[in-house]
Amino acid sequence: MSHPMHDDIQEVLYTQEQIQQRVRELGAQLTEDYAGRDLHLVTILKGSLPFLADLMRAIDLPLTVDLMGVSSYAGIHSTGEVRVTMDLDETIEGRHVVIVEDIIDTGNTLSYVLRNLRQRAPASVKIVTFLDKPARRGSPLEADYVGFTIPDDFVIGYGLDWNQRYRNLPYIGILKRDVYAGPL
Ligand code: XMP
Ligand code: MG
Repeated sequence: MSHPMHDDIQEVLYTQEQIQQRVRELGAQLTEDYAGRDLHLVTILKGSLPFLADLMRAIDLPLTVDLMGVSSYAGIHSTGEVRVTMDLDETIEGRHVVIVEDIIDTGNTLSYVLRNLRQRAPASVKIVTFLDKPARRGSPLEADYVGFTIPDDFVIGYGLDWNQRYRNLPYIGILKRDVYAGPL
C-alpha cells in the first residue's frame, strides 16, 4: 500500500501527539481564564476546523461556537484584500469572543476580522491561533494564545492546505519544494 500524501512531506514539524498535548494545554489555559464567563468561540473557515474541534473539547466550560468565512486576495498590493464569504449566525454583542485561527502569517486576514467583529460591540475579543509565523507580519498584531511559533516555511496538515489538499494530515509538515514549484 502506498501513501502518496505522506511522500510529499519533507519534514514533520509537529506530530499528532505533540499537537494533542499543546491543544490540551491551550484548553486548560482558556478554561482557567474564562471561568465564570460565557465563552463564545468564533472560527475562521476552513483551516481552523480540526483545531476548533480539538480545542473546544479541551475547554471545560459552557461555551458556544460560530463560524465565519473570509477569503483573502493577495492582489497586486502587499496589504491584500479581505472579504466575508460567510457571516456569523448569531450576534456577538455583549459576548466574550475568542477567535480561533489556524495560522497568522502577515496578519492581514485577522486584522480585517478584528475590525469587523469589534464594530459589533462584543464584551471582549481575544485571539487563539494554533500557529504563529511572525516573520512576515505586516500589521502589529499579536495573538493572546499561541500553540506554536514557527519559522517562515509553508506548512500543511491539521487543517492547513496547499491548493485545498493535505488538510486531513494528522500532523503539521513542511511540503517538499518540488510539489509546489515543480521539477527544478
Ligand atoms: P495572513 O497573511 O492574512 O494569512 O495572516 C493567514 C492565512 O494565510 C494562509 N497561510 C497558510 N496556509 N500554510 C497554509 O496552509 C502556511 O504556511 C500558511 N501561511 C499562511 C492561511 O489560510 C491563513 O489563514
Ligand atoms: Mg485561516
